[in-house]
Amino acid sequence: MRKRVAVLISGRGSNLQALLDAQQDAYEIALVVSNIPNAAGLDRARAAGVEAIALDHKPYGQNRQAFERDLDALLVQRSIEIVALAGFMRVLTPFFVRAWANRLVNIHPSLLPKYPGTKTHQRALDAGESEHGCTVHMVVEEVDAGEILGQARMPILPGDTAETLAERVLTLEHELYPRCLAQLACTRS
Ligand code: GAR
Repeated sequence: MRKRVAVLISGRGSNLQALLDAQQDAYEIALVVSNIPNAAGLDRARAAGVEAIALDHKPYGQNRQAFERDLDALLVQRSIEIVALAGFMRVLTPFFVRAWANRLVNIHPSLLPKYPGTKTHQRALDAGESEHGCTVHMVVEEVDAGEILGQARMPILPGDTAETLAERVLTLEHELYPRCLAQLACTRS
C-alpha cells in the first residue's frame, strides 16, 4: 500500500513538485498544506489534482500550539501517514514533533550537522567550505538535528555566490528528497 504523505510548504514548492513528479509505488501525495495562503506551491498541488489547503498561521498569533493542533487534526482527518516538510518555514513545537515522531521528515539546504537554521549558503561561503549540499532528515525537537536519511553534495566553485549555490543545491534537493521519501515510506510501518 502506498503511504499517504502530506507535504507542508510555505512558498514556491519546487521540492513539492519534485515529490509529486516522482510519486510511484512507495508513496502518494494525498494533501498539501501551506501556512502562507498565497504560496505558489498550492497551485502546483491543485494542478496535480491533489487537495491543497491554506492554513494561515497569522490568526493564531503567538499561539503556535493552537495552529499545530488544527494542523494535526487536519492530517489525522485525511489519514496521513507521513508528513514531509518542503520549505515549511515555521519551527514546530514539541507538541507537533512528538505527535508525528518517526513520521516527520524535512529537507535542509546544507550538509548537516553543518549550518542548521537559516542563510546556509552564505554561511558555507563565509566559512570557506570547499563543498556544500543538502540533507534529508527526520525531525526532532532540536532544529535540524534528527537522524540523517540522505545527503547530496557538490563542490563550491570559484565565483559562487549564495544565489548560485542555492540554485545548484536546489537541483540536488529535487533528486534527493523523492528518493529518501520513497525509502522512508518503504521501511517504516
Ligand atoms: C529549499 O531550498 C529547502 O531546502 C529550504 O527552503 C527551500 C524551499 O524551496 N528549506 C529550509 O530552509 C528549511 N529550513 P521550495 O519551496 O522551492 O521547495
